[in-house]
Order: sequence, then structure tokens, then C-alpha cells
Amino acid sequence: MDQRRPLIAGNWKMYKTCGEAVETAQALKQLVSDVTAVDVMIAPAFTALSQVAEVTSDSNIQLGAQNLFWQEEGAYTGEVSPSMIVSAGCQQVIIGHSERRQYFNETDQTVNQRIAAAIKHDLVPVFCVGETEAERESNITFSVLDKQITTGLQDIALEDLATLVIAYEPVWAIGTGKTATSEQAQEVHQFIRSQLKEAYGADFSEAVRILYGGSVKPANIAELMAMEDVDGALVGGASLDAETFSQIVRYEI
Ligand code: 13P
Repeated sequence: MDQRRPLIAGNWKMYKTCGEAVETAQALKQLVSDVTAVDVMIAPAFTALSQVAEVTSDSNIQLGAQNLFWQEEGAYTGEVSPSMIVSAGCQQVIIGHSERRQYFNETDQTVNQRIAAAIKHDLVPVFCVGETEAERESNITFSVLDKQITTGLQDIALEDLATLVIAYEPVWAIGTGKTATSEQAQEVHQFIRSQLKEAYGADFSEAVRILYGGSVKPANIAELMAMEDVDGALVGGASLDAETFSQIVRYEI
């Protein structure tokens, strides 16, 4: 029996106006209203969060932001603080997505500060890690992931990591249609869990949820979820359509 409750999360990235986001959330709410065995989360753009929260607040859908800044407040034009995200209705926050690292210069150190800030505000951090195609081809996938995880979680106490979710998203599989095979995902997830066991012990490593992300679709979710160490998915493109995303959420039904 798997002790870890599956989480299927949708990262809407920079898609959808407020109206479109509300419409999709309303449709999704109907389509997954009877789902009880899986946690469901959607992460719209900042601008749509509070309106989507009105739709999801009385549903089984959790709300996530796609990023946060670690300062409480101040002269940081264009940034959004943890309290702002909480006040918009979020329970979760995606941190360290490869697109943030690639286009917005986020580093393992800034990811670490964001994770610490999320935890301080009782937000579930969905901490993204993953190797590039060049790194995989150079056979350094494991060392890249080890560094991302070690630095990303540096100086955070074990008791503060209780809600942590890790999302393994191989950069070469994001938006490319190239999904990692379920065996490739399992191999990496198992590695991540073994590293976490070394650092934090078996109780933690057995309980932490590790999601897979990268071209997840209704057609491949079941085989990914059948893997022992795959506890859910972080879905990009296929989460934008309520019907398609609901099929992913309902992979077991
Ligand atoms: P795709 O599902 O579009 O490949 O995106 C994955 C992703 O980046 C989710 O965060």
C-alpha cells in the first residue's frame, strides 16, 4: 500500500487572462468534484489567483502560485511576497521551475530563500529540480540533482520540511512532447528518495511526495503513476484544458 497521497498539479505558466482562468477553474471544479483519492492543485498566473480562489475555495482543488519573493515587503518593484500569495488564497507555491532558472536567473541559492519563505508562511513548497539534455548526455544527471536538492534545502530544519513536495522535471521533457519513460522517471525518483533518506532519514524520505513533470498527458499518466516512487505529476500544457487535465487527475478511474 502506497502511504503517499498522489498530487496532480497543473502549472498554467503565462497562459490565461483572469476570465479564462476562472472559466477553466469552474469547469475543472465540476469535472473533479467526486475525486477523493488524489490531491488536485492548479497554479494560475498571479493576476488570476484571487478570482480563481473564489471558485476553488469550496472545492477539492488547491490553489498554488508559480513563484514568490522571499522578502516580507519593501521596494521590490514587480515582486510578490509570501503574505500576498496567502492573502490571494494560495495554499501551495511552485518554486525553482526550470523556466525561472533558465530565463530569470534563479539559482539554487535564491531557490533556497524562496523555499524557506514559503515554509515560514505555511505554504506547501513544490520544489522543482531537473537536468538539461546536455547534462543527461554527459551522465551528470544525478550530481546535478544532488546539488539542486542539497543547496535548495540548505539550512532548513527537518521539522519544517513536513509538507515539502519535490517535482522532478527533466528540462528536455518540458513542452517538447518527449516524456521521460516511466523507467527513466522511476530511476531518478528513486535516486532523489535515496538522497533524502541519507540527509533526513527513512521516515521523511518515505513520506515525501515526488512528482514527475514533462509532457505528462492522459495517455502516459497511468504508466508513470504505476512506478513505485512517482507520487504525482506537475502538468504544464495538458493542464490548460479542464477536460484534458481532469482525465489526468482521474488516471485511476
Ligand atoms: P509540459 O507538461 O507542458 O511539458 O510542462 C511541464 C512543466 O513545466 C510543468 O511545470
